Amino acid sequence: MLSIEPTGAVLGATVRGIDVTRADERQFAQILLALGQNGVLRFPDQQLDIGDLRRFSERFGQIQGPSAAVEDAAHVGILSNLKEDGKYIGSPDAGQDWHTDMSYRSVMGFVNVLYGIRIPRRNGVPLGGTEFANMHAVYEALPADIRTRLADATATHDFEKFWEHMRRDRASERPPMTEEQRRRRPPVVHPLFLTHPITGRKVLYCNPGYTTRINELAQRESDEMLEYLFAFQLEPRFRYTHTWTENDLLVWDHLGTIHRAIADYGPDEIRLMRRCQVMATKVFDPDFLRPVRQLTMEAV
Ligand code: SIN
Repeated sequence: MLSIEPTGAVLGATVRGIDVTRADERQFAQILLALGQNGVLRFPDQQLDIGDLRRFSERFGQIQGPSAAVEDAAHVGILSNLKEDGKYIGSPDAGQDWHTDMSYRSVMGFVNVLYGIRIPRRNGVPLGGTEFANMHAVYEALPADIRTRLADATATHDFEKFWEHMRRDRASERPPMTEEQRRRRPPVVHPLFLTHPITGRKVLYCNPGYTTRINELAQRESDEMLEYLFAFQLEPRFRYTHTWTENDLLVWDHLGTIHRAIADYGPDEIRLMRRCQVMATKVFDPDFLRPVRQLTMEAV
């Protein structure tokens, strides 16, 4: 039987008693509800090929990712420092700064589905964890005057902020974005305090990776407020680190968390993950969430 065991920390739960490739509709609704409530779900001991990962991920929404010649591999990315013939087989350093995937898109990211295949270890201790911060808890802990003042505020998210950060601070040799790239990735606007579609509670929806401006404030005030919010949302009390084991499947909610990959391993300590990045194409649709509502009604 499916069981959901919260970590006892500010985020995270372990889901046992399920092979995700066989989750029926009710079990999938339980997973969605647990995801909204816990932010990060670990499914230990999953045996998944690329197609299994893609099919499970697609249940959350449309996957955004690389196309591939083989259908099963389409939209399944590789995060790894492993090299073949002197070339990385995937992205070696993805996600090492705090961010939320695809907040810079008008349809934002909903979940990441990450499958741990090789986990680096030093003296038996696993490395390369993934760290999260809880945006439900952050919103609820914000000073009341800020929550009131910014209740209807919106924020701009811009992919170019990340691009320039990589050039400036991470020695990336990529050239500045071209006009064409800017045209394809224009800045977008989202509510600063978003109502989470699963929990119905507010979250702080901004992140240091992509958020550039609170639109209703003057530039200087916006800069100061964002600096404050970025520091506040990363206070240790809101943070949780997932320590990986091989065959862990980790699913996390981008609407209710921000995250980063911890780069504490060396080039010879191999980390290999497969990843599907799923967009919020379904989760704001009441029909999609109907089985979840049914479950919550049964519980009262
Ligand atoms: C990511 O930002 O999606 C990568 C997280 C990780 O590799 O731990």
